Amino acid sequence: MNKPTDSLVPATDFNNEDSNSSSNATFDQVLSARLSRRGVLRGGAGGFGAALLGGIGISACGGGDAATPVPTPPAEQLLGFAAVPKSLADTVAVPVGYSASVLYALGDPLTATTPAFKNDGTDSDFETRAGDHHDGMEWFGLGADGKPSTLSADRGLLAINHEATTDQTLSSFFLHANGGTTTLPRPASEVDKEVAIHGVSVVEVRKAAGKWEYVKDSSFNRRLTPLTDVEIAGPARGNALLVTKYSATGTKTRGTLNNCGTGKTPWGTLLTGEENWFGYFTRTAADDAARSNDKSVTALNRYGRTQGAASRHGWETGGSDDKYARWNISKQGSSADGSDDYRNEMNGMGYIVEIDAYDKTKLARKRTALGRMAKESAAFGVPAAGQPLAVYMGDDARNEYMYKFVSTATWSAADANPSDRMATGDKYLDSGKLYVAKFNADGTGQWLELSMSNSTVTGYATYRFADLADICVNTRLAADAVGATKMDRPEWCGVNPANGEVYFTLTNNSNRRVDPTGSSQLAPDAANPRVYTDMKGTTAQAGNPNGHLLRMREGTGAAAATTFTWDIYLFAAEAGADKAMINISGLTADQDMSSPDGLVFSPNTGICWIQTDDGAYTDVTNCMMLAAVPGRVGDGGKKTLSYTRSAGGTLSVDTQVGKAPAADTLKRFLVGPAGCEITGLTETPDGKAMFINIQHPGETTSQANLADPGKYTSQWPSNAGYGAGKRPRSATIVITKNDGGRIGS
Ligand code: FEO
Ligand code: CA
Ligand code: CA
Repeated sequence: MNKPTDSLVPATDFNNEDSNSSSNATFDQVLSARLSRRGVLRGGAGGFGAALLGGIGISACGGGDAATPVPTPPAEQLLGFAAVPKSLADTVAVPVGYSASVLYALGDPLTATTPAFKNDGTDSDFETRAGDHHDGMEWFGLGADGKPSTLSADRGLLAINHEATTDQTLSSFFLHANGGTTTLPRPASEVDKEVAIHGVSVVEVRKAAGKWEYVKDSSFNRRLTPLTDVEIAGPARGNALLVTKYSATGTKTRGTLNNCGTGKTPWGTLLTGEENWFGYFTRTAADDAARSNDKSVTALNRYGRTQGAASRHGWETGGSDDKYARWNISKQGSSADGSDDYRNEMNGMGYIVEIDAYDKTKLARKRTALGRMAKESAAFGVPAAGQPLAVYMGDDARNEYMYKFVSTATWSAADANPSDRMATGDKYLDSGKLYVAKFNADGTGQWLELSMSNSTVTGYATYRFADLADICVNTRLAADAVGATKMDRPEWCGVNPANGEVYFTLTNNSNRRVDPTGSSQLAPDAANPRVYTDMKGTTAQAGNPNGHLLRMREGTGAAAATTFTWDIYLFAAEAGADKAMINISGLTADQDMSSPDGLVFSPNTGICWIQTDDGAYTDVTNCMMLAAVPGRVGDGGKKTLSYTRSAGGTLSVDTQVGKAPAADTLKRFLVGPAGCEITGLTETPDGKAMFINIQHPGETTSQANLADPGKYTSQWPSNAGYGAGKRPRSATIVITKNDGGRIGS
């Protein structure tokens, strides 16, 4: 979902959390924020030129949703397409020669008997409909016999995250006929609907008569919601920290929540990341004392829930039923272990969750060995027989960290097609070592182990860890203890199949300052070296509003390495920004972007796809997707950024910068409709059909305008001819090349 920078953050934006007040890795330095040249360009010929190009681009692309046949090229050239211009149009724009069509949108029925979606706020039964805010997504092929197939390119399952709802108010107004209640208590009927639009879809899709469609009555279709029974797996299973009224044994919890990025295991299951779950829970104002100020208070504060925190939607007020009570995590019962209330309920969220998309009978499992945080994607290193598996993950909040899990079990190629996929998950994901990244200015770094055998963890005075389960549940505190590097909001990560290098998007950070004050602001450092001011209209956006992409190359030991080298692959920036300090990668008008978020390497073409979730450049362009053919760590060199301190003197920040992209190694491929974020990407195995998600079009619509569709900031996808009603809907789209070629050629 969209995360605006500080000046735009409403008090209820749970996606811009900053609970990291640990003292590690800060410099006490000073600043002179630099104005981007954009403010100058906007008033002059440059700004006019950009707007003019945008207008031409839209007509050249024909709005993008319609097929535009072109002659078949003589030979495939990756990134051979013409770049798509930036745009504010309420449409999906793709390159000439490509087509995009809507496949599966909010509310679409998943059974033969579910009524068609009216899209007027009166629909219910979301347990049998597509959820909202489509996000990460993975493909699971099906053969003609309905069995799993790694080759099938015309029939498969899409497993799709449904992260959240569009919620400028307490209720999610597009979901309710008249916008819903905006005061507490919330009616059960509204709460039930809002809960059910969260979670995951599994939906069958197929190509029939040359056209992609979803299969409404497929027996594979299903929804997981925040009420679905889920197993706790790994070191925290059965631990005291997971004991609740729902599961006195601490072995289960209900559902998965705020599912953001995804991953796909080498054995063919879905991994889904739970991101901004903390904001759904409430604590009473006197809960610290009720807990006798024990260490659970430290843990709750570190995960964004100080006492008195209000919940995002007030779901706890839906009624006396247990399914509402669970959202109040205050200590209310008299038991010593928490088996009579939900004081531990939030410890059941924040994991990588494994789901067998092919098998409805298998409960999802929360893989606690991979730690607990605001999870995004989970990307596997390239598996090597006889070697452990590595899984890379980011924690998306300001000043949080990057992690790696290394399995105890070594990879056996026979496990690529197992008879029991979830048991294979048990083998590789329930036992291993968890590490957090520390970056050095010279381009090296360390993976620091988070375990009870690390005395820096066990000796941490702020929080005394009881056991490995405690580390798996309170991972952020363990990472604080070892002095990990605080990053500019780690979002998705992906692994380059060509060389195993690991790429992370760092979407933005409104808390970087040359002259930091308070516990949440940080000075620039080698891995997060930029501090500048970006103008959005007349609004100054401070910190690192545009974000960057960092990549790492493992040292000796590959997956199990404890050292790495790194550089910054790309700095996101406006093309017109200062090239010395802001647009350091020299992005052109065909390449410029802000707030990279989704990142997926195509296993077929090897193209690195970069998607944006931006609030900084959105006065000039809607969110977008770019295609990249990156080089490798170390293909550029050292750079020193010099900042003028407010008290005088210079702050010099050494960093490592990758080789600047060329016109044929980075190009904008797609621009989405108004107010959306582009997220999630998966392909058929032949690379010829790509599925991506358009999340929250029209997000900036005011509830006061609900009755007047003409005032919606987006009417997509109804304006693309899809479905009833004018209310904007998150949706999966499918992209094909008109000449039948691979996507990105
Ligand atoms: Fe759901 Fe951090 O994006
Ligand atoms: Ca994200
Ligand atoms: Ca984001």
